[in-house]
Amino acid sequence: MPNLSNRGLQMPPSPIRKLVPYAEAASAKGIRIHHLNIGQPDIGTVPGFMERIRAFNAPVLEYSHSAGMESYRRSYAASMQGRGIDIDFHQIMITTGGSEALLFAMLSCLDRGDEVLIPEPFYANYNGFALIAGVQVVPVPTRIEDGFALPPLAEWESLISARTKAVLICHPSNPTGVMYSLTELRQLSELVRRHNLFLFSDEVYRMFAYDGAIHHSVLELPELAGHAVVVESVSKVYSACGARIGALMSRNADLMAVALKYGQARLSPPTLEQLGAEAALAAPPSYFEEVRSAYEQRRNLVVSALHYEQRRNLVVSALQSMPGVVCPHPGGAFYCMVSLPVDDADDFCRWMLESFSYKGCTVMLAPGSGFYARPESGRHQARIAYVLETDRLSEAMDALSEGLFQYPGRRI
Ligand SMILES: Cc1ncc(COP(=O)(O)O)c(C=O)c1O
Repeated sequence: MPNLSNRGLQMPPSPIRKLVPYAEAASAKGIRIHHLNIGQPDIGTVPGFMERIRAFNAPVLEYSHSAGMESYRRSYAASMQGRGIDIDFHQIMITTGGSEALLFAMLSCLDRGDEVLIPEPFYANYNGFALIAGVQVVPVPTRIEDGFALPPLAEWESLISARTKAVLICHPSNPTGVMYSLTELRQLSELVRRHNLFLFSDEVYRMFAYDGAIHHSVLELPELAGHAVVVESVSKVYSACGARIGALMSRNADLMAVALKYGQARLSPPTLEQLGAEAALAAPPSYFEEVRSAYEQRRNLVVSALHYEQRRNLVVSALQSMPGVVCPHPGGAFYCMVSLPVDDADDFCRWMLESFSYKGCTVMLAPGSGFYARPESGRHQARIAYVLETDRLSEAMDALSEGLFQYPGRRI
């Protein structure tokens, strides 16, 4: 048998899905699993999306333009202008999910061996995209104690080398929920301009900003025209993950021309879903307000359950802290990265599926190790995706609390 590629063999498996066999075994035993491990929203897809696809009646399902349908790109640009961002439809390329946009961004801007700085912990698939592109990820550590805030510029500066070519940020962040202010974006803008770097900004969670905060795109900074590359997606914003529609946006015309060549090689993004996504642009603000408020409620439930959990099996009437758990207050997206009082979060997450149930159910979390370049750094952490409606989320938090109480590798 011929050898497989080294690249393929080195490709990291998804940390979010690696516990699936244990979850399947638990389900087979009749245990109900609350899936807090994956960012698959349960919210209905935005009104208008499915209707537009159902109305499709052309005789042939054709390829679209490699950069996406012009009408969709024009409507997209108009909606960006409605958000106060001056962008032309030529500066928008429709991709097969935000995932493809991230890959095209790396392949268009970085050569093999070039380095990209990424605040850590970060979305696990960045490791995979970097490996495909032959790019080296240089993590910029952030601290749970500081709520994973953007590190001071001096720390970034100390990690810049002759091979550094780009900075990649994700805000609101998966996995930490951290949001960056306009002031912080301006600091990054200065950094990337001083060192002549690209600034990739993954804004797929842009609609999910809580506590009245406003999400700012790096496209709001005109001085970044040659540097900024923004990635958006319909997956989370319109609750349409299966559509596989995203967007790559930049005011750098040379970059867009190079990205288009990758687009031409894969021919086109999905046709029907572009129609749906174009219709979704007309969704009323009330849709987003309702969705945001549903997630904010869930966020509050999770954060307060982690901080204050009433333990029914102890005869205590007052609310108590869930001991040993550190959970910063996530400002956006629908995740929180928490530190758990366990010897090893990978083992704990597996144990929850293999050896534990509470009232017939258990919880599946994403172990923190997969969100770090050095897995050891996330050894005591796990990511919780609050993508269930509140009753189920409450049950899940009860089971998590009980699991932490019973886990043999508990640290306190
Ligand atoms: C931070 C982040 N970026 C990009 C993506 C890719 O999204 P999609 O390819 O579904 O648009 C995801 C998906 O979960 C994500 O969490």
